[in-house]
Amino acid sequence: MVKEGSAMALIETEETNQFTYEAFAAHPFYTEINRSLVRQALAHLEGRPLHQPLTIVDMGCGTGAVTRLVAEELARQGRLAQAHLVGVDPSEDALRHARRGMIEMGLSVKADFIQGESNDLTTIIQNVDAAFFCNAIHLVPDKAEAFKHVIGILNPQGIFACNSAFYQGTYVLGTEHFYHLWIRRAMAWLRKEHPEVRVSREAKAMAMQWLTPEDYIRLQQETGFSQVEALQVDVSVSLQAWRDLGHYWLFIDGALPGIPLALGAQALEIALYQAGEEMGLTTIPRTWLQMVAIKG
Ligand SMILES: C[S@@+](CC[C@H](N)C(=O)[O-])C[C@H]1O[C@@H](n2cnc3c(N)ncnc32)[C@H](O)[C@@H]1O
Repeated sequence: MVKEGSAMALIETEETNQFTYEAFAAHPFYTEINRSLVRQALAHLEGRPLHQPLTIVDMGCGTGAVTRLVAEELARQGRLAQAHLVGVDPSEDALRHARRGMIEMGLSVKADFIQGESNDLTTIIQNVDAAFFCNAIHLVPDKAEAFKHVIGILNPQGIFACNSAFYQGTYVLGTEHFYHLWIRRAMAWLRKEHPEVRVSREAKAMAMQWLTPEDYIRLQQETGFSQVEALQVDVSVSLQAWRDLGHYWLFIDGALPGIPLALGAQALEIALYQAGEEMGLTTIPRTWLQMVAIKG
């Protein structure tokens, strides 16, 4: 089972900085699924005056793929000039990519990228109109706590959007075997080629629990969100895209904890194509959970 993330995983080093999220986040399917969440969320701005200032936070912004989609959507709605975008992420390296990406977009927007995590939010920013937490909630051990911090920074009627492809329900029927085979083949390759390395059982046991959509909805409602809209959307993910995800340090660390990242990436890549060939698959569909909620 591929479980991304462990509580000890978020310490960045020179080694982790070589295994970034950028390549995976550049796949068109990824842009599309996140763009649809951004549009679903920012549709709630309808009716607000165009000249009204807006503060929008992208928590766990990583390399800024979603922050750029937010900027694009605000431009489409004619709200960009009034907006202040704030990306927050624990990884200073990812923030560097995010800052550069926003400049390269060439849009005239006020954007800041600040180092921090969900638990720091209330000290970083207040009076926020919309907050995004995309493809990251599964990395947070205490989701209820994270939702409390988000609601703490939102204005009344503030919008919260969050998505994940690491939850109970994410495997499209009939594809579960692929993920088991992928990891089994990766472990077999490591045992044969690098018997000196071992997957850490302790870290494996700490791997995040995946929640159900109902768990997520209940937690958000208990935190004080209303109108929680939850959609599950099937997406076709190519082997190339899985390979790129297998080169992302948080994914490697979740799938093969304790294995040096370069070896983990190599094992995952070789095993991915083996599993794909054995099962005759060139794409593996996956379901994304897309949630939008309103404060109050
Ligand atoms: C898979 S990336 C997603 C990046 C971006 N949101 C996207 O959708 O493309 C997950 C990001 O969550 C960040 N992260 C992990 N734990 C976090 C936390 N507790 N608070 C904020 N961000 C966190 C990681 O540093 C990483 O950049």
